[in-house]
Amino acid sequence: TPSTPSLWGVPLKYISLVTLAVQNALLSLLMHYSRVSTPPSRAYSAASAVLATELLKGFISLLIAFSRLDNVPPQYTLVPTQASSRYATSALNPRVFFARCRRLGKEVFRADCWKLSIPAILYVIQNNLQFVAASNLDAATFQVSYQMKILTTAAFSVFLLRKKLTPLKWLALFFLAIGVGVVQIQSGAAKVTPSSSGSHDVHTMYPSKGFLAVAAACFTSGLAGVYFEMVLKNSTGDLWVRNVQLSLFSLLPALVPVVLAPRAAQVGPSHAVPSITNLFANFTPWAWATVLTQVLGGLITALVIKYADNIMKGFATSLSIVISFLASVALFHFRITASFVVGASVVLCATWLYSQPDNKRPLLFRSRRCS
Ligand code: C5P
Repeated sequence: TPSTPSLWGVPLKYISLVTLAVQNALLSLLMHYSRVSTPPSRAYSAASAVLATELLKGFISLLIAFSRLDNVPPQYTLVPTQASSRYATSALNPRVFFARCRRLGKEVFRADCWKLSIPAILYVIQNNLQFVAASNLDAATFQVSYQMKILTTAAFSVFLLRKKLTPLKWLALFFLAIGVGVVQIQSGAAKVTPSSSGSHDVHTMYPSKGFLAVAAACFTSGLAGVYFEMVLKNSTGDLWVRNVQLSLFSLLPALVPVVLAPRAAQVGPSHAVPSITNLFANFTPWAWATVLTQVLGGLITALVIKYADNIMKGFATSLSIVISFLASVALFHFRITASFVVGASVVLCATWLYSQPDNKRPLLFRSRRCS
């Protein structure tokens, strides 16, 4: 991995991993609470939330990509060469600014940009499925089940990247699947969340629907992640420019449910599908907090991929299981069952086992020069 810049002496690699763990836990809690705390008639649209996330993430990535552009090549520099004042080369100078915009445009719309369309579509599907899962599962159960993406990522790495897994890693994956299975035993029955606005307008959780959504989201997560890795490794290009491309290609699939809204409305009540005029209706501060946490997650994921790696990302997300479990108990009076504790512990151990380096010596005893 490339050498990491540091903040207050702490490598950005570790800052990004800890932030990702906290962000993952916060996202599952916020997403769950923002969905179940309002009755269905006042639920915000998940499709609008996904669209808002992509727009914001794309805009922030664009600003970062712009600020990271190297010096504008001479052919674009319209200022006379003898003008060597700071203003002459500053982005505040309109000529330099437009030259940089042109350069960034060329980078974003380079010939191979279409490659990002595949992970972009997959991530949009995944981000929509996440809302279905968080609406139908407890935050902690959602978080544990979502660890199955380690399994799908490994499967796609083997099939698409021809990666070889050691027997220990296969064993860890086997235990991971067992652990998630045990967690799912705890409840198959629909759960109704009490609401103050009338007995019929209540949020009902259907765990089997939630598990199906998580399973599908894990599938797209694995495929999109491996495909994104393939694009990053097999081509040059700044990570933030790639992120802008990802967001650009996400806009069309994210817009589809919005555009289809008027037709859907004729078929039946469809608070989940917005029309273009009330795109952000029912967006509570909790809904906006969910969107902002998603945006943060996308940006940190990019940093983690660059400065750490996917294995360390697995560690970060398993840490988030513990955080969301404790928070679920404290905030949502999550009922601790034996099957949850056993299943979550097996998932944690399996994630740790999977994260072990392939050589014989365990991670803790490796010399510092390896890190
Ligand atoms: O859990 P997983 O790693 O699959 O989630 C990836 C999340 O990060 C998705 O929500 C995706 O939209 C986002 N992402 C991103 N930019 C990347 C890679 C992922 O915004 N370069």
